[in-house]
Amino acid sequence: MGERSGKIVTVGVSGASGALYAQALLRRLDGDARVRKVFLVVSEPGLRLIAAELGIVAQDVRTLPQLLTGTRAEKFEYLPNKDIGAAIASGSYPVDGMVVIPCSAGTLASIACGLGDDLLARAADVCLKERRTLVLCVRETPLNRVHLENMLRADAAGAVIMPATPAFYYGPKTIDDLVAQYVCRVLNLLGLPQEEQYRWRGEKVR
Ligand SMILES: Cc1cc2nc3c(=O)[nH]c(=O)nc-3n(C[C@H](O)[C@H](O)[C@H](O)COP(=O)(O)O)c2cc1C
Repeated sequence: MGERSGKIVTVGVSGASGALYAQALLRRLDGDARVRKVFLVVSEPGLRLIAAELGIVAQDVRTLPQLLTGTRAEKFEYLPNKDIGAAIASGSYPVDGMVVIPCSAGTLASIACGLGDDLLARAADVCLKERRTLVLCVRETPLNRVHLENMLRADAAGAVIMPATPAFYYGPKTIDDLVAQYVCRVLNLLGLPQEEQYRWRGEKVR
């Protein structure tokens, strides 16, 4: 937690399929009184996927939080991915946790190898070195050995690998149901449990 009450969260969006997950997560963070600040970093391919999958193209990328949430997004700050001098690039800045959603195989590799060559990778690297929560919503299929080894490497460094694979056991009816439940699980990992999260109560077996 930061000095004042409320969490500070970084959201990285990379160029994997699943911009809808990012949008749903950002909307929930926007409406969550437990969160006081959200930094948004999007890779160039991430911007392309947001355009392709959500039809959102920002003339001024700083307005992306407003366009994605549909609100004034007052607690959001958009940070250019090339700005490796931003606050979240330093471990001295008190971020509580970060999620990369969706996380491409390329960004996974960069994080797993500690490249820190753009803000997204650097902010993730900082979370690992400061032993803060880092959730990687990896989206690629099928997976090759490089992807699998990078996941192991990131896991060993402290990241949570949370593949963007929705579940079906709770009876989802729509894509929004699938996305919402997945995002609820991600938020839970960030210490922000959601009332809407379906919780399996077990079933009786004869
Ligand atoms: C339409 C489209 C869909 C893509 N989907 C994926 C994907 O699901 N997973 C993935 O790892 N890469 C995917 N890619 C490839 C990445 O965008 C590409 O490797 C890019 O360099 C990743 O850069 P970034 O990690 O900096 O965002 C996709 C690319 C495009 C154009």
